[in-house]
Amino acid sequence: MEVFECVSTLSSIRVYEDREADMETIQRVIEAGRLAPSAHNDQPWQFIIINERDRLQQMAKYCISGSFISKVSFAVVVLTDPRSKWREIDTTRAVQNMVLTAWSMKLGSCWIGRLNEEEIKKYLNIPAKWDILTVLPFGYFNENIVSHTKLRKSPEEVFHLNQYGTKINK
Ligand SMILES: Cc1cc2nc3c(=O)[nH]c(=O)nc-3n(C[C@H](O)[C@H](O)[C@H](O)COP(=O)(O)O)c2cc1C
Repeated sequence: MEVFECVSTLSSIRVYEDREADMETIQRVIEAGRLAPSAHNDQPWQFIIINERDRLQQMAKYCISGSFISKVSFAVVVLTDPRSKWREIDTTRAVQNMVLTAWSMKLGSCWIGRLNEEEIKKYLNIPAKWDILTVLPFGYFNENIVSHTKLRKSPEEVFHLNQYGTKINK
């Protein structure tokens, strides 16, 4: 899938099909995260892959705004280093790389924001020095349920030409 097509069709997916993803697919997704650029090339991240069903079900208890994680093919717990100044920007770029790469392979995802971070850290043995940025579910989905309407501010509301306030005439 061409990059702009990927960006313009991407949609958060919260309902998944019961289908496994093979290791090659999983590795391609996390590789896209590993290759992300970062300030000073700090690479302030770690990625924990979860592909065991019982673990995904347990994670659903800790993913407060993403219990759909129990149904996905795999998930990536995205850790970020609190000592790194640009950690959230850098690690979010890794997230977007993974999400777009997955989308190009027909795997959906959805950022899970509300987490019981302490419980996840205990459950996955994560050292205290790491923060959890998000937990990303990945899974196949029925394309017929995807909304093709992007709810976004209009171009007029967000674009300016050469200076603030000058509209771009089409
Ligand atoms: C930082 C961030 C946190 C989010 N947290 C959640 C969440 O906890 N649960 C959820 O279902 N969606 C979450 N989302 C998904 C957004 O609701 C979604 O991206 C937005 O409504 C736009 O819809 P779209 O991604 O389908 O275009 C989050 C997205 C971002 C970027």
